[in-house]
Order: sequence, then C-alpha cells, then structure tokens
Amino acid sequence: MGRSDALLQKMTLEEKIGQLNMVAASRVVTGPGELRDLQEGIRTGRIGNLLNLWGADETRAVQRLAVEESGLGIPLLMGLDVIHGHHTIFPVSLAEACQFAPDLWEKTARVAAEEAAEDGVALTFAPMLDVARDPRWGRIIESPGEDTWVASRMAAAKTRGFQGRDLAAPNSLAATAKHLCAYGAVTAGREYASAEVSERTLHETYLPPFAESVRAGVAAIMPAFIDVSGAPMTANAKLLQGWLRGIVGFEGVLISDYNAVAELLNHGVAADLVEAAALALNAGVDIDMTSGAYIQCLPEALDRGLVTMATIDASVRRVLELKERLGLFDDPYRRGSPPAQAARGPDRRELARDAARKAIVLLSNRTAVLPLAPKIKRLAIVGPLAAAPGEMLGSWASAGKPEDVVSILEGLKAALPQCQIDHAAGVDIDGQEIGGIAAAIDLCASAEVVVLCLGESAGMSGEAASRTDLGLPGRQRALAEAILDLGKPVVVTLSSGRPLTAPWLFERADAVLATWFLGHEAGHAVADVLTGTFNPTGRLPLSWPRDVGQVPIFYNELPSGRPYAPGVHYSSTYLDLPPTPQFPFGHGLSYSRFALSDLRCKPTRVKAGDTIEVSLAVHNESPLAGEATLFLFARDPVASIPRPLLELKGVQKAVLAAGERTEVTWRLPIKDLSFVGANFEPVLEPGRFEIHVGQSADPSRLLSCAVELMT
Ligand code: BGC
Repeated sequence: MGRSDALLQKMTLEEKIGQLNMVAASRVVTGPGELRDLQEGIRTGRIGNLLNLWGADETRAVQRLAVEESGLGIPLLMGLDVIHGHHTIFPVSLAEACQFAPDLWEKTARVAAEEAAEDGVALTFAPMLDVARDPRWGRIIESPGEDTWVASRMAAAKTRGFQGRDLAAPNSLAATAKHLCAYGAVTAGREYASAEVSERTLHETYLPPFAESVRAGVAAIMPAFIDVSGAPMTANAKLLQGWLRGIVGFEGVLISDYNAVAELLNHGVAADLVEAAALALNAGVDIDMTSGAYIQCLPEALDRGLVTMATIDASVRRVLELKERLGLFDDPYRRGSPPAQAARGPDRRELARDAARKAIVLLSNRTAVLPLAPKIKRLAIVGPLAAAPGEMLGSWASAGKPEDVVSILEGLKAALPQCQIDHAAGVDIDGQEIGGIAAAIDLCASAEVVVLCLGESAGMSGEAASRTDLGLPGRQRALAEAILDLGKPVVVTLSSGRPLTAPWLFERADAVLATWFLGHEAGHAVADVLTGTFNPTGRLPLSWPRDVGQVPIFYNELPSGRPYAPGVHYSSTYLDLPPTPQFPFGHGLSYSRFALSDLRCKPTRVKAGDTIEVSLAVHNESPLAGEATLFLFARDPVASIPRPLLELKGVQKAVLAAGERTEVTWRLPIKDLSFVGANFEPVLEPGRFEIHVGQSADPSRLLSCAVELMT
C-alpha cells in the first residue's frame, strides 16, 4: 500500500478535509488572534495548505507545526503567485510573450522557481494560459496574448521551467495552469463577468493551452472564477471531470481560485455553503482556496448525501500524492534552505536584462531617429514613467523590491555617461494636474532628442483592473502634444499592461516602443534598445487596436460573407474606422531590414501522415546584423465548416549578418492542418491548403504557397 492510502486509512474526516483546505497565511500578520487560529488549524490538521507565505524561516516555522505537532505529521503545501519572477523580477507575462522564445520562457520560470523554492514555496499559481483578445480586461497583462499556438508553447515551456526535471528536487515548484477556461472572454472585458463562448471556440481557442500543460506534466490546474456559457467553472463537472480528467487525462490536483467555492452562492447555483462545497468537490475541485466552505461544510454535505466519502478520499489522495511527488514527506524542509551562493547558476540580473530587452517591441521608427546617435550630447527624459521604479514591477511582484529596479532614467544615464540628461515628469500618471508641463517644455528646449516615457501605472492592469478607455490616462496626452509641438525628435516609450490606443501619437512621434512592465532591469533594457546596443527583436503577441470600439480584435477571424473592402459600404467594417488593427499580430521592427522571397512547399501533393517542408529565403538588406522573426500560418479555404482566415502553425527566428541571405525551413506535419470536428476529434479534410509566411499577420504582406491533401 502506498503512503497516501496508508495515511488515508488513519485519517479522521476532519483531517481529510484539512488536506483540501488552503488558507491565506497573510492572516498571520493581521493580528494575534488570527495567528493563533492558523497555528491551531495546522496543529489540529484542519489546515493542510497555505498560500502567500514565503521566507525560509517563516515557512520552516509553520512547516514544523504541521510535521511535529499535528496528529499525522503531514507536511503543508505552500503556494504563492510566482508569476514573472520571485526576488528577481522579469517582464510581465504579456511582455514575455513578445519574445516568442520558449527557451527564454523556460529559463525565467526556472530562476523564479529556484528563488521561490529557496524561500520555502512548493507551488506556484502559474502559468496563466488565458488567451486574451480584449485589452479592456486588465488581466491581459498576465496572458500570453491572443493566440492559441503561442499560449500552448508558453504552457509547455513554463511548466518545464517551474517544475524542472524532477518535481521532488529542492529547487522545483509544482506549476498550476490557470484559469480554466475562457477567462479572457469575459463580457465586454469586464472583470469577473460571464463568458459566452461556443463549444467550438472553447475547444479550438481556449482549451488547447491547458491540454498542452497537461502533456508537459503540469501538477495542478485552477478553474476560473467565472461562468462559461452559464456554467460556473468551479462547479463545471463537464469540463473539469469530463474533458480535463476524462479526455485529456489530467491526474493532478485542481485548486479553486480565491474564495471561488463560496462564490458559487453568488453565481446562483447553490442555496447554501454546503451545496456550494458539494458542487465544487463533485466537479473535481480538490482544494478549496480560502473560502472555508470545505472545512466548514463537507461533513454536513456527507450527512445530507450530497457527496460521498469516496469522492472526498479521491481528492485527499490527489493532494497527498502531490505532496509525495514534491518530496515533502521525505524532507518537508527541502525547500526553504538556500543553496550556497555558488550553486545559484548564471547571473540572474543578466538574464532579467536579456529577457527585458527581448520583450521590447519597436512599434514605429518613422524618421529613423533610433538608434540614438552614439555622440548624442543632450537628452531630455520626460514623462511620469521615466523615474517610476515601482511601476516597472508590474502586477505580480512576488518578493521583488522596487528599490532593486533600474528605472528608465537610470538606465539611460548609465548607458550614456557622456550625455547631459535632464528629467521632468511633467504630469502624474493619472492625475489632472498640468502645472508641470511648462517646466518639462523648458527642459526640452536644448535637448537634441526627447525621450517621452508614458503609460499606465502597474495597478491599472492585472486583476480587478478592467478599463473602458484604452488611451493614455490622466493628462499625458496634453504633455505629449505640447512636446510634439516643439518639433524636436521625440521617442516614446509606452509602459503598460495592455496595448494603449493613441493613433495621434503613432502618427506624430518619431519612434514609439511598447516597453510594457519589464521588471528589475527595465531601464538597462530600454537603454540597450534606444542606443542600439541591442537590435530590437520583440514582436506583438496580439493585434494592437486603433480604438476601444474595435475590441475584441484578433487576426484569426472566420471569413465574412462580405469581407472588408476599403470604400465598399456593405462590407465588414465601421463607418468611422477600418476594422484593421493599428499594428497587426507579430508586428515589431528591427534596426535591420529583411526581405522574404521564394516560399515553397515540398511536396505539394500529400497524404495524411506526411510532413511537408516549407522553406523561404530571408535576406538582410541592411548594413546591420539582426534577427528576423517569421510566422507560418495555414488556411483551409474550403472545408465542411468555415475555417479561420489565418491560423498560426509555427514561428522561426533567423539571425543574419549585414547583407546575409539564408534559407529558413519548417517541417510541418499534415496532421497540424486538422480542425476540431463534430465530436471534438481532430478532422483532416482532403483538398487544398494555403500556407502563408510573413513577418506579421498583415495579410497584404504574406508570401503564399499551397499543398493538396489527397484522399
Ligand atoms: C487570482 C489568481 C491567484 C489567486 C491567489 C486570485 O485572486 O485570480 O490568479 O492565483 O488569487 O493569489
């Protein structure tokens, strides 16, 4: 008999339910009464899991209570939102997505896991895999962007990075894929609202990244707070049991979102907490995060016949098995024991800097003002995000400290010691005060170039931070227009957790960069790109809207019966704007210039089971070495159901010296051209498939070839 079964035989009902109970340890600091409750809960076995506690000493102290003072000595599982770094803070997830670099995604997760594990944490509530197409939704900052293929690559890379090769290793964390599912589709981008999504879209767009995380061995999954097409996810047995455990074969632990079990009452599907607890448990939710519904009400749910002991036991077994896999039974203190400094691996700040500069997207460079001239003597750095270290940490800072951030101002000063750099904020991020604009203008008078650092505060995106206005907050537009009116070269950095709509800015500024929230090395990274020490490689993982009225906006739409045609009234557009984005998915400039040609598919007549080779020539036409990013899209133009205009199937990068020409080749299995059929099985229909390759999803700039799938 395994350890879990042996333990189960000894456990009281209360001890069993304790293993399904996760409590926020932040209570520890809110008052002595609650501290006593927490200690008492651990000792009596009523609390089996904690969140929001870290630090070697802090975690060791509570672990000792569980191991030495509780009846069965079962170690605690301690979870934390280690999202984009723990002590060392990397770019926010949306910015990381701009790297299109699974190796780097894995590396930053590995370092985050090592640091958090040193602090006694055993599980992270990441990766967040919600495909997001609506920037009103604040949590788009935590997402991998609009594309399912990208989200799936991120699922695998982050899971590998957090979990390492062996979950029991002292530097591994259990990963939690979240939030299953379609959270990004909340109505009108409003936080916690309902998501109305067809079965097909669920299976084609929102679920595949979760299936991919399961294939990568993810230890835990978190259902979303919301309801999907009327089924609250915390009680959604069809998806959690039927699809996730049944079809995908997930055997790990399901952890509710914060207080979500009790919130089933608000959803209107449970009359009391007892029913809520029963619904969630029966749907397969093993751990109740903070609502207290399980610990308070599962005994009564048993009495009322709403749940069975077998269901409780199955959940307890899964939790114990996770603790076992994490090595907690063998050595409950294996995390929370910092290794010798020498064992810490490559310099984390260097990795943070590399990750940050690779996340920056050069949106425009109209007058080739960038890179800055090496001999530049005088620079004005203006705007409320220039010297705002705390904001650079983004929406989940974990243990990261603002005092460790290199601000944009500091980064540029360090990079340009010969240059006189003057700084004024001009306006606040979100205030109405414009008194500082005049001084900022004066400061610009003698500058050769103005770097204008605009954007949002970190708190304007993330959870519970939806916005209806996607423009620059406060009086930043007034500041920007006053500076643009000076007629000097103006470079704009946009620090934000979402794309910001500002067509007037893109029209007038000499260069604009999406710099998101880049973490501890933000300033060095921005300076690397502005000075040309680093030739930008970041690409947009989402379509950047011109106006909030266009959202949700994404490239892989279904074809319309009356497709958009400029100037044609009865075509799919708006009266006041074209339907096209400001910048398409995949957009991002380099200081080099690449030309693509000679796209070929080989062979062109294929059978199911074959693999084709798609190749093209890439030419660096510029006198500067650089990296090109190539996107491969497929389209099935005639099928039994309409297929999207473009579907991403692969991304490759080519590093080219000045003037160099190279060939890039993909091997594309024909099975990748299948779609989700009536029974949610993959269907491959014979006929012609188009293959398109380009530097973004801009349809007017794609190269195309075709293959014929024979019957
Ligand atoms: C968020 C989750 C997070 C959890 C624990 C919730 O409010 O939705 O993403 O993991 O809190 O902090």
